[in-house]
Amino acid sequence: MDSEQLAADLVDDLARSCWVIETARSSLYRGWAGTDPRYEQNVDICHERAHLIEASLNERSKRPDHELVDGHLAWMTSVAGDDPEEVPLAPFFIDRLGLWVDSHLPRFIGGGGRLVELGEKARAELRFPESFPPPPPYEPVRPVEVEPPGEITFRFGILADLHFGSARAADHARAAIEDLNASGAELVVQLGDLTDKGDRDEYEAATQALAQLDCPFVTMMGNHDVFSFAEEQLLGKELYAEKFGRAPDGVVLEHKGVKFCVLDSVEHAASPFPGFDFTSGSFADGPGGAIVRGALSPPQHDLLADVAAPGGGPAFVFLHHPPQPFPGFPPILFGLRDIDSGRLHATIDSGNVWGVFAGHTHRNFRTRDYDGVPAHEVGIPRDFPFGYALVDVTDAGYAYRFMQLSDEELVSSAYETAGHLWRRYALGDETARGFTFSPA
Ligand SMILES: [Fe+2]
Ligand SMILES: [Fe+2]
Repeated sequence: MDSEQLAADLVDDLARSCWVIETARSSLYRGWAGTDPRYEQNVDICHERAHLIEASLNERSKRPDHELVDGHLAWMTSVAGDDPEEVPLAPFFIDRLGLWVDSHLPRFIGGGGRLVELGEKARAELRFPESFPPPPPYEPVRPVEVEPPGEITFRFGILADLHFGSARAADHARAAIEDLNASGAELVVQLGDLTDKGDRDEYEAATQALAQLDCPFVTMMGNHDVFSFAEEQLLGKELYAEKFGRAPDGVVLEHKGVKFCVLDSVEHAASPFPGFDFTSGSFADGPGGAIVRGALSPPQHDLLADVAAPGGGPAFVFLHHPPQPFPGFPPILFGLRDIDSGRLHATIDSGNVWGVFAGHTHRNFRTRDYDGVPAHEVGIPRDFPFGYALVDVTDAGYAYRFMQLSDEELVSSAYETAGHLWRRYALGDETARGFTFSPA
């Protein structure tokens, strides 16, 4: 895809995402208006905003993604609550999602001015609390008890985003690596975002830390690994190859008869937007790094074809980006491109795939099931609930568990970094932290 096509494609996905967000916000406010009639105005405002976006989608020969609204609304409600009083700061969070729309979309559509005007009208009614609520207290996250289906043949570990270079990243990665070394894992798969700003020193720190693993490991590129902020260029391909000894086109490994298909699902292109800061509700200064959306390259499609080959045997697929339909924020734009999600789906339909694991979202979450085959997002060491995953593989399937870091002093002091909204976002319910799978 050339850069002009890519830009047009991204704007399509941006507008589609914004329509889903505004339609879901309208429904959420309708629920909230039942307990607080002040939110009735917001129902109409979001509805009109969705209408404006739909008109621009029609002009671009695109249709709104009605089938994504329920999943996105369920996600929004799971974070923000069923009524506006349930979760501290939830009304601001839901407004920030609208502000994200206003910050990104208006320049690309007719009616952008009206969109912003409506957003500001709703925002004018928001009243910031006099003081911020303290974060909830420390409460350890115990592993969910799961029974592996049969005799365990081996255990492997999943280490999601590390973000070397950001606060707490190195200490928490070290704690996770110590736990993995003590776990008996025979292989560790890291899910990308090794670095925070894609810089040489961060790559170096990640490489040195991972070298402390006692067992073989495999990594991949995440969107944070693509663009070096220090050198202000797309250096990721070069730095990744230098540090990890392979081009970022994915790889298939085999361990005890099970395939591990690792896909570097990043787009090697700079984001047209600076970073958006949800706390301040504005764009950050400087470049925005790489495009957040995921994509698979032709060599990665070949790896999937290898996984899908008849008689191919069991395989796990690992990638940085969760596939569509992706119920998180922003919908569509933060997940794997539609066309590649379709390719992944076809691979799973071969019957050879036992599970798909993604990072990127920093939460425990079941993205979706493909006739019982899970596509699953894995929480990270740096952010609440601070951990990694262990998978016990048997002849008849596997058991998955999310494990909080065992360094209680480190973890308990990090709890204050996670407010009410983040904890609801990232913890995941019990089924997202422990489950079993047996092929049909
Ligand atoms: Fe990340
Ligand atoms: Fe990411």
